[in-house]
Amino acid sequence: MADQYAQTGEDKRPTGMPVIRWEEPPEGPVVVLLDQTRLPAEEVELVCTDASALVEAIRTLAVRGAPLLGIAGAYGVALAAVRGFDVDEAALALEGARPTAVNLSVGVRRAVAAYRTALAKNGDTGAAAVAALVAARALHREDAEASARMAGHGLELLDELLPGGGHRILTHCNTGSLVSGGEGTAFAVALEAHRAGRLRRLWVDETRPLLQGARLTAYEAARSGMAYSLLTDNAAGSLFAAGEVDAVLVGADRIAADGSVANKVGSYPLAVLARYHHVPFIVVAPLTTVDPETPDGASIEVEQRPGYEVTEVTAPQVTVTGAGGGIPVAPLGTQAYNPAFDVTPPELVTAIVTEYGVLSPVTAEALAELSARSRQV
Ligand code: MRU
Repeated sequence: MADQYAQTGEDKRPTGMPVIRWEEPPEGPVVVLLDQTRLPAEEVELVCTDASALVEAIRTLAVRGAPLLGIAGAYGVALAAVRGFDVDEAALALEGARPTAVNLSVGVRRAVAAYRTALAKNGDTGAAAVAALVAARALHREDAEASARMAGHGLELLDELLPGGGHRILTHCNTGSLVSGGEGTAFAVALEAHRAGRLRRLWVDETRPLLQGARLTAYEAARSGMAYSLLTDNAAGSLFAAGEVDAVLVGADRIAADGSVANKVGSYPLAVLARYHHVPFIVVAPLTTVDPETPDGASIEVEQRPGYEVTEVTAPQVTVTGAGGGIPVAPLGTQAYNPAFDVTPPELVTAIVTEYGVLSPVTAEALAELSARSRQV
């Protein structure tokens, strides 16, 4: 396993360079990631030469966000196959790296299926490895296409729900080009509104404890030139009370068959606030995030992260002093509750925007029907 970091000079990522890419230097194929743990302080690449390096990158959130996890998982399988490692072992490790985002399993399984089908057909592991890579590239491309379609459907929905225009959108976590083959999910809708001159302001929750909102969404918003403001997660309630939020837009890590939505912890309280204040709570996610095998919200496995992410500030730009690598902000030995996600029940979700259209109201039947329709396209 070899992780190498390299400065990227004047490169203006993520707009100028993909957040994930496959490369074939003379030393052998690699998967190159934009290391998201280092943003916004530095833009550095993480070069993964094998699947175990990718597993580590997934665990540490160097690569993160549901759609991108799927793409990373598929490239991870291809990397193992091309480099002659045990594909099943690599697939198991990749799938197990984080439990909540179903896209990770979807990506891994798609590449494994392509590998196995090709192997069964001609018995050649080289050709099977190429098939896995083709599958990973297809998923990457399809995610970019899905992202563009969700942006269009999402803006139409906003315009319908909020006919006055001048949308003031609150978002949580990071859902832009850093999580996708394209421009993302919820953030892509805000970006579409901005380009159409209909975004008045993007309210960005900082998203404790790992600050995906402050570090990553604000970074993407600043690059896009949109009007945005950062708030502490605790400030959302007073923002609603002041009548400053027209809609909430978030992504999803897994949508159960009944329409329950697992997303970054802190999404559920926003849905409750939104309902109380009569504000639409809109989830934007590709159909790869819908998991028909998970019947309901209670069946979604929510990842529990280490306590030090709460008891220490671990942003990349802080001086390293604590046991978890950050500055302690609580007495040593403090126990922490640190779920990475929470689950919003379908009755609090105004609509789910997918690449195949908008689902509203959110019911198990409507979700099954949309999934069936997508399989026919
Ligand atoms: O822990 P993370 O940073 O991977 O969590 C990401 C989120 O919760 C996103 O909101 C979700 O993946 C949807 S992104 C399209």
